[in-house]
Amino acid sequence: MKTIEITTSVKVYENLPELPVDFRNLMAAAKAAQQLAYAPYSDFRVGAAVALEDGRVLTGANQENAAYPMCMCAERVALGNANMEAPHVTITAMAVSVYNPRKTIAEPAAPCGACRQVICEQESRQNQPIPLILQGAEGPVYVIESGRDLLPIGFDKSFL
Ligand code: THU
Repeated sequence: MKTIEITTSVKVYENLPELPVDFRNLMAAAKAAQQLAYAPYSDFRVGAAVALEDGRVLTGANQENAAYPMCMCAERVALGNANMEAPHVTITAMAVSVYNPRKTIAEPAAPCGACRQVICEQESRQNQPIPLILQGAEGPVYVIESGRDLLPIGFDKSFL
């Protein structure tokens, strides 16, 4: 028997002004995208923004449905948007911000399990990690170098 140790590094910036300017701008786009959330059931608004290597920024927001399992998370909407609007263009970073009108979220919220899987697929597709920049409505910002860091021992095309 042996034990595998898995470690994840998270850079913690105390607030937005501490972030490098390109990440700060990407987070601003993620927050703006919350306006386009369709969240009549949860009222929870999530905005995501992806930076492309050609300089473009594309966004997504959560899109809910009366059939709850059909709800689409902001992260997957943003990735789908990028793959349609900018096919084969590498995504260099993704910012995600959440807003709950019932309470102030002052901690970063991390992508759900399904979104982690889809982010990892994107990384494998473009053969490059996607740094994730995460923030609540305010407060500290986490920067995680790759979606893979949030989904160790994941399932990928190597099994197929
Ligand atoms: N949601 C996201 O958009 N991203 C996440 O990473 C977590 C959850 C959305 C889905 C649903 O519309 C609402 O937040 C509440 O779960």
